[in-house]
Amino acid sequence: MDIRTVKEGDYLYLVDTQSDLAHTPLSAFFDQHGLLLQNAERKGGRGEALIYQTGTKKVVMRHYRRGGLAGHLLKDRFFLIEPHAHRAFDEFRLLRYMVKEGLPVPSPFIAREKKAGCALIQDILIEALDAEDLSYVLRKRALSQIEMLRLGGMIKAFFEHGIEHTDLNIRNILLDDHGNFFLIDFDKCFLSYPDMQRRKEIIARLHRSFLKEKNKYADAIHYKDEDFALIQGRALS
Ligand SMILES: Nc1ncnc2c1ncn2[C@@H]1O[C@H](COP(=O)(O)OP(=O)(O)O)[C@@H](O)[C@H]1O
Ligand SMILES: [Mg+2]
Repeated sequence: MDIRTVKEGDYLYLVDTQSDLAHTPLSAFFDQHGLLLQNAERKGGRGEALIYQTGTKKVVMRHYRRGGLAGHLLKDRFFLIEPHAHRAFDEFRLLRYMVKEGLPVPSPFIAREKKAGCALIQDILIEALDAEDLSYVLRKRALSQIEMLRLGGMIKAFFEHGIEHTDLNIRNILLDDHGNFFLIDFDKCFLSYPDMQRRKEIIARLHRSFLKEKNKYADAIHYKDEDFALIQGRALS
């Protein structure tokens, strides 16, 4: 995987030169009103993940927005002086590192940013995995015990590679038809070698997301809380 930096229009791009997305202009991959994205499927809580097909590849395009109250006021502006302003480039590089380490994450293809006054506007294009997030899976069926252990093992592998996922929840965990788990959504995530206390907090957050889904959809969600011990036990082992 080689990275090239490209200046095109107002944007600075980071491009994986081996992704064979040698389309010019690069802006076509991000143009929500353009031909490439006309049949894109919107996913996620904030609806910012757009999944579409380009040539032989299925990709996800994400526009970076803030969550919470600030999100409403400042929308998609990230000020240069704030820590972690370069969200797209940071996520691109972290994904690239994790792919190299053999961790189950989507490959990053293109990230871009442009200046708007003293702020940045950013997007990223990554591989779309042929897998569904756990909020979909749990509506169809429960995870088997083997799957829960495997999920715990995957989380542990990320810890051991020093990855701190700051928003570990069931919508950021994907499962494919062959029983493989993946992690996504590494916006604002770091290489930090989380200690045991931090690992416990991350697992507690994941636990809350299972409970929240169960409280919201009750019997429509195939999840028994006593099973969480399997995930937790393996992840913190
Ligand atoms: N690489 C991917 N492959 C398959 N599905 C994805 C991928 N990235 C995101 N999704 C789907 O889109 C949803 C939202 O994407 P995500 O990156 O988590 O953004 P956000 O949580 O900010 O809305 C995910 O919960 C998942 O269902
Ligand atoms: Mg998410």
